[in-house]
Amino acid sequence: MFSSAAAVAALPAMTSASSTQHFDPVSRAFHWLTAIVIVAAFILGPEHFGRLMRDGLDPATRWDIVWHESLGVSVFVLTLLRLVWVALRPAAPRFDMNPWMQRAARMLQDVLWLLMLLLPITALLALGSEGHPLTLLGGLRVDQMPFIANSPLAEAADWGEVHGFLGDAILWLAGAHAAAAIYHHVVLKDGVLKSMLLPGRDAH
Ligand code: HEM
Repeated sequence: MFSSAAAVAALPAMTSASSTQHFDPVSRAFHWLTAIVIVAAFILGPEHFGRLMRDGLDPATRWDIVWHESLGVSVFVLTLLRLVWVALRPAAPRFDMNPWMQRAARMLQDVLWLLMLLLPITALLALGSEGHPLTLLGGLRVDQMPFIANSPLAEAADWGEVHGFLGDAILWLAGAHAAAAIYHHVVLKDGVLKSMLLPGRDAH
């Protein structure tokens, strides 16, 4: 689904030696900023949202909901900008590794990319199909999303449930992704973790 260049952005899946051992600074900034924003959005994931809405709560009065939605929208924007950067950036590092490990890393990275796009989309589907407002920092709000409410997609699923499930899934998969990076560093002692952590001093 995503290009090989896109796949290496989250954690490098590398097959052969190349001159660069490190991701460029913009890719590293995108990676760590996205990771921090996703964890913060997860921590602020609104529990019992449906019940609160049925009780007549205005979500704009709840700082955790406003921050959750604002951080989540930031993930979407960051991911789109990051995909543009992946297409434009200098060559990503490549490392030798077992073919199965390379395939597993690639699959995991593709699923993470997909989730970073699907999480905000399913959240908008949940809000739009149930007629709840999108409430963001700075008092920004979108009260109605008729293009979602009137679309056949609105009835296709309980999008709030789907969104909560995907929110849990991204944290588990990001944890597996981080564990793989630590395994590379501690056991394989290759430069995979450092390639996303440290500025490159190698020749390009
Ligand atoms: C990567 C970004 C996101 C992550 C990791 C995430 C994670 C989660 C999680 C784990 C829950 C379930 C909370 C619980 O039941 O304890 C949740 C619920 C929710 N999130 Fe997000 N979310 C993200 C983006 C967004 C965005 C962009 C919006 C708004 C546009 C949003 C709006 C909501 C709403 C309204 C609920 C309650 C859903 C319901 O129960 O009907 N989220 N989110």
